Amino acid sequence: MTPSTKALASTPPMGWNSWNMFGPNISEASVRETADALVSSGLKECGYGYIVIDDCWSKKDGRDKNGDLVADPDKFPNGMKALAEYVHNLGFKIGIYSDAAEKTCGGYPGSYLFEEQDTQLWASWGIDFLKYDYCHAPLFDQAIAIERYTRMGEALRKTKREFLFSLCEWGNQSPHLWARKVGGHMWRVSGDVFDSWINIWMKDWNTYGIGVDVSIDIAQDLYEYGGPGGWNDLDMLVVGLKGRGQISGGGMSFLEYQTHMSMWVMACSPLMIGCDVRKMDSETASLLMNRDVLAINQDSLGKPARRVRRIGSCEIWTKRLADSSMAVAVVNRGSRGEDVILKARDIGLLETPKLARNLWSGQDIADFKVEITQRVEPHETILFKIQE
Ligand code: GLA
Repeated sequence: MTPSTKALASTPPMGWNSWNMFGPNISEASVRETADALVSSGLKECGYGYIVIDDCWSKKDGRDKNGDLVADPDKFPNGMKALAEYVHNLGFKIGIYSDAAEKTCGGYPGSYLFEEQDTQLWASWGIDFLKYDYCHAPLFDQAIAIERYTRMGEALRKTKREFLFSLCEWGNQSPHLWARKVGGHMWRVSGDVFDSWINIWMKDWNTYGIGVDVSIDIAQDLYEYGGPGGWNDLDMLVVGLKGRGQISGGGMSFLEYQTHMSMWVMACSPLMIGCDVRKMDSETASLLMNRDVLAINQDSLGKPARRVRRIGSCEIWTKRLADSSMAVAVVNRGSRGEDVILKARDIGLLETPKLARNLWSGQDIADFKVEITQRVEPHETILFKIQE
């Protein structure tokens, strides 16, 4: 399929989002530099094709005299249309952010009751993607959430421009059950994921920042709902933040970032980079740019992985692929290294696999007959592709 005929979000969307690193300190210069860095680093070639400007991009004190949102001229001196043109010329699509209430999470104007006016404006700027948040809207009332997201979905459709619609109500109103019906292509399944293995209590917000470990269980609960055209969104990646940026939870070890990447890939989550790609180190690049690993996420069958077995503190997850091979993750969620015996029949294989490759190390495993023993360090994930 050529890109133009490929249906929107037929595989999990990939790109970069401003929030995790820059928070409210977003600017036209940093977005342009990020676009350049996505190209020069090779990330764009790997498939990271959306550049999404999150909260705090507009003038905070309100709309103009016509009721239009205005890009903050201090942050975006040339305006959004020029920025969209810049990133389009580099071959990216561009995303913007709003909220289904009067104000966004950051206190900027939201789009509730302005849906048509705002979507027309974004379409005139050449915007391709909307992340639609839910701060200041009534929580745990599914009918209201459906109504507000429906209003936006319809307004986007009326523009006649192709928008990828990303819902962000944190999973509170079970969006996996209705997001597709309102035109959604991805829906957040949790609160904000922090740069942390465990959840963090955030006193000011009276809520938990979600850690990577807990997200793995959420992925298991919802694996049946993701598929071509609509995906469980485990939240933007924290790979490479290393304790910096807006979503700082202290940072994680290399193996924890590797597990984070592995499980987002296996769960068919959208892969939205959150770190500063202008200053990406080689460890981070190795996690974000492993093409064999990314191919598991982007596999055309679009089947999210599920947990098939627990062995001590380790879990085995499998994901069927379009070429009828299998991706297998062995994740150690405990704090001691384990030697896991991976048996062909535990992962649903009837025969001895013809080929098994460790995707992070790039090595083929010659001696996988009926089983292999695999060392898995604390918080590490080994990813295999296994061909029957
Ligand atoms: C919410 C969302 C985040 C981010 C911020 C912006 O917390 O869940 O992803 O968009 O708002 O304020």
